[in-house]
Amino acid sequence: MNTGKTILITGTNGFVGSRLYRYLHENTAWTIRGIGRRMGACVDYIADISQERDREGIGSHFPDVDAVIHTAAISRPSACDADPEMCRRVNVHATGELVKQFPDAKFIFFSTYAVYNREEGDSTEETPLAPTNLYISTKIAAEKSVARSRDYVILRPSVIFGFSMTAHDNYFMTLLKTVRAGREMVSQTHQFFNPVHVEVVCRIVQEVIALDIHGTYNIGSNEKMSKYEFNRAILDRFGLGSVRVIGKSESTDGILRPLNATISSEKIQRAVGHPIPSFPEMMETLSRECEGLDWGTHAQLPG
Ligand SMILES: NC(=O)c1ccc[n+]([C@@H]2O[C@H](COP(=O)([O-])OP(=O)(O)OC[C@H]3O[C@@H](n4cnc5c(N)ncnc54)[C@H](OP(=O)(O)O)[C@@H]3O)[C@@H](O)[C@H]2O)c1
Repeated sequence: MNTGKTILITGTNGFVGSRLYRYLHENTAWTIRGIGRRMGACVDYIADISQERDREGIGSHFPDVDAVIHTAAISRPSACDADPEMCRRVNVHATGELVKQFPDAKFIFFSTYAVYNREEGDSTEETPLAPTNLYISTKIAAEKSVARSRDYVILRPSVIFGFSMTAHDNYFMTLLKTVRAGREMVSQTHQFFNPVHVEVVCRIVQEVIALDIHGTYNIGSNEKMSKYEFNRAILDRFGLGSVRVIGKSESTDGILRPLNATISSEKIQRAVGHPIPSFPEMMETLSRECEGLDWGTHAQLPG
């Protein structure tokens, strides 16, 4: 493993950014620095990337960076629709400007699996891009700026799951809170994907840097399932088989998404030289990190 590298991560108050910050601290000898909009356990430098002066501050504060991992984004489609201008400013403009701030660094960008919309699914990195909502359009536009970088990596992860205590709920935390509140879980029976545990994503990012990998890569489990099946599998794993999950074929939140959002992750598995762990193995990891968690009334949980 290389030592002496300095890695800058944006969005370290967020779910993936905070987990990456901790994972790379624990598993490498690299210097890891986090950027957030406000102070936090994984934040070393405060900056609002929608502001030019703050972006310039990042560039001058971190002159010698080997890799930038850019996770900061307006990551919820509903938040993008609520403020399209801010969504474009953060997701597209700020990304392009950050690329320019770090011309000599490896630039690793978190895009999304939802860039494709192919009826038969199993999209590869060569499948034409077809956005179904504003959030996805901004990710595609940002990818174009990132691809101008000398050394870039575009990651298109499927839904990333894992325990998190951050301000924005990820897919798993929304499920957990719904169950805790005693509400019925309504989920899509006709929307298919390849959910992947956050630790798997962190390990791949580490390998992308250590092995000096370049290009565009999907990341998802090798198993495909509907959102309904995923929710059911989690509830069964945690002994909550009696919790009602209602399956619906249409969108549950009014946001247009690809129905068959399944991807092939062959390319990244070849690049890192090992398979992505199976879905049952990822569920074991989830189980371990949720050990001791009370799905009923857990005092530590937000909300
Ligand atoms: N989670 C998934 O399932 C998934 C799947 C595919 C792709 N992705 C992509 O992966 C990345 C990480 O996702 P995530 O789940 O970790 O998202 P998240 O929890 O929403 O984290 C995003 C972070 O970006 C920060 N941010 C937003 N606007 C900012 C600004 N103007 N200046 C500085 N920071 C700003 C947010 O800061 P605040 O905390 O201050 O709001 C937040 O901490 C995102 O780019 C997302 O689009 C995620």
